[in-house]
Amino acid sequence: MSVQAKNDLTALLDLFIENELLFAEYYGECARIFPEKSHNFDTLARHEKIHAAIFEKIKRSVIENPDKWSKGDFHISVLKIVVEDVKEKISQLKEGKLKKDFIISYAADLEKSLIEKNFFRALKTSIKEFEIFFEKLQNETANHQKLLEGLA
Ligand SMILES: [Fe+2]
Repeated sequence: MSVQAKNDLTALLDLFIENELLFAEYYGECARIFPEKSHNFDTLARHEKIHAAIFEKIKRSVIENPDKWSKGDFHISVLKIVVEDVKEKISQLKEGKLKKDFIISYAADLEKSLIEKNFFRALKTSIKEFEIFFEKLQNETANHQKLLEGLA
């Protein structure tokens, strides 16, 4: 793998990490806004933090074993748009500008879009351990969507 390709992958992973932490922050705000559902939102926030830690692990593996990794069919610009959007929604949440109905359905749509846009196929690897991670990320995201639809 070229230095450029490696740098592109680590930049993508930094953004994935940021994205998961933003989701965690969003759910943390939800727990505050919906005290009766805070248990569910705390669980979601915890999962997103674990997802961020998984992406940290992936990043370290890319740095240590770049030849075992390659880019999948996914463009970083898609992720940049999501990150910017979630940031904006978090500040609106904090300012009390979002309607309660919208808050949960936005999150459900967001989780859905991660699956539809093949977020978790953005990287390919020949390392078995990490293939399992991508399955886990994909499955938990699908579960989050279902949980949120139940909460809405
Ligand atoms: Fe999630």
